[in-house]
Amino acid sequence: MNTPVSDVHARAGTHHGDAVRDMFDGIAPTYDRLNRILSMGVDRRWRKRAVELLGVGSSDRVLDLCAGTMDLAADVQKLRPARIVAADFAADMLEAGKHKVPGAERVVADAMNMPFDDAEFSRVVCGFGMRNLSDTHKGAREVLRVLAPKGVFVTLEFFRPTRIDTRLFHAAYGRYVLPTVGSLVSGRGEAYRYLRDSMNGFFTRSEYEDILRDSGFVNVTGHDLLFGIAAIVRAERAA
Ligand SMILES: C[S@@+](CC[C@H](N)C(=O)[O-])C[C@H]1O[C@@H](n2cnc3c(N)ncnc32)[C@H](O)[C@@H]1O
Repeated sequence: MNTPVSDVHARAGTHHGDAVRDMFDGIAPTYDRLNRILSMGVDRRWRKRAVELLGVGSSDRVLDLCAGTMDLAADVQKLRPARIVAADFAADMLEAGKHKVPGAERVVADAMNMPFDDAEFSRVVCGFGMRNLSDTHKGAREVLRVLAPKGVFVTLEFFRPTRIDTRLFHAAYGRYVLPTVGSLVSGRGEAYRYLRDSMNGFFTRSEYEDILRDSGFVNVTGHDLLFGIAAIVRAERAA
């Protein structure tokens, strides 16, 4: 049975947040199709790897943060945890994906100001969401707050690449493929130019790992995917 979208409204509070939310609401109907085309299906493998590193068991309470159309929540659901919550501030993204995870609670909320209790979750996963936040440090501290002691936080993200070949690939892909295909399929080329700029402007994986350590996470480890085109960072809250 579908749980109705919570009436907890996004509290973006910033122009950046409002613009990002409106953009994702706008591309929600075509988001999944474009993801498959743009990644040629590779994103599915990346998500599975992220969920493996999350290490979900039957007693876990899992938060899919910046859940979008809930692909990660759908992979988590296969492991039958005690609870799955999908949170995103773009209600239309959650709505577009709700059929994939009928048992999940959907909550419209800002990742930097979540309506959850301290230590409410034993696992938090965030796919391609952290780089959209106007304040990454604030987002990291908020994840730590809602995570229980010994809890695990996994980030799947397009970090700013450091390898020269990967940087060239990112640059060419962002310049030619993203806006062109994005515009053709969604009619919103500007949204896919934003995605390109958000990748270029984000931290490298090792800078992000330092942010997590500075925020209080322990055992922070990173794993590059496909020559660093994307990467996964796993971190824990201390016992
Ligand atoms: C690129 S999509 C990724 C969606 C999904 N996690 C996936 O793996 O496909 C980024 C998502 O982050 C959400 N988002 C961005 N900033 C947010 C914020 N401050 N609070 C909550 N959600 C946010 C957007 O609405 C969007 O659905």
